[in-house]
Amino acid sequence: MIHVSDLYKNYGNLEVLKGIQLNIKKGEVVSIVGASGAGKTTLLQIIGTIGNPDKGKVFIKNTDVFSLHGKALADFRNKHIGFVFQFHNLLAEFTAVENICIPAFIANEKPNKAEKQAKKLLSFLNLTERANHKPSQLSGGEQQRVAIARALINNPDVILADEPSGNLDSKNRDEIHKLFFNLRDNFGQTIVIVTHDKGLAEMADRKITMSDGKITSD
Ligand SMILES: Nc1ncnc2c1ncn2[C@@H]1O[C@H](COP(=O)(O)OP(=O)(O)OP(=O)(O)O)[C@@H](O)[C@H]1O
Ligand SMILES: [Mg+2]
Repeated sequence: MIHVSDLYKNYGNLEVLKGIQLNIKKGEVVSIVGASGAGKTTLLQIIGTIGNPDKGKVFIKNTDVFSLHGKALADFRNKHIGFVFQFHNLLAEFTAVENICIPAFIANEKPNKAEKQAKKLLSFLNLTERANHKPSQLSGGEQQRVAIARALINNPDVILADEPSGNLDSKNRDEIHKLFFNLRDNFGQTIVIVTHDKGLAEMADRKITMSDGKITSD
């Protein structure tokens, strides 16, 4: 599902990724751990095509993603990749169901079809009662579940999560962790999670450790 070859990234003189090779199979849940500054977010963003490498390639579903540009790349990302961030990045003015629908609207889905799918996801995430709440009217765990529903609405092949539970208490953290495995079991998604949470890292099918811009164990 994901093939990364010989990836390098510098910020000025700083070498952040130093020759990353990585293959991830469909349906795998992979955790990426490592010290702050090791390059985890940089790698995840490049896999997600929201960052550019200086050298190397990323293939998602056999597509050489950086051979795509502009709208073609944006469309590919919208269709195939879902993102979950540490801070949910929900839009404050919109309700839960509206936030979830936004990637579907970008994909030109019909509003009633998008809303139907959003409501299905809300139900799967036990959030039906919260559909019309704005983010400020939701708890942290609920906000993060809405953000996960938003990542799922276009039924992407790949979900990339950067410290998805970093901002939650232990009960909500456990729920979000279980949810990732539920998603894989129910929808067959391939999931890559950057985390500092040891429990979550160990639950994954595979734990990758990064250190100083390289993969040091897999
Ligand atoms: N846009 C940028 N410009 C310059 N330097 C950057 C930029 N983004 C990241 N860096 C640097 O690249 C290095 C790797 O950053 P990255 O965010 O990938 O680390 P990380 O492993 O995700 O760390 P953390 O666990 O703290 O989130 C860091 O030293 C960081 O300061
Ligand atoms: Mg990071």
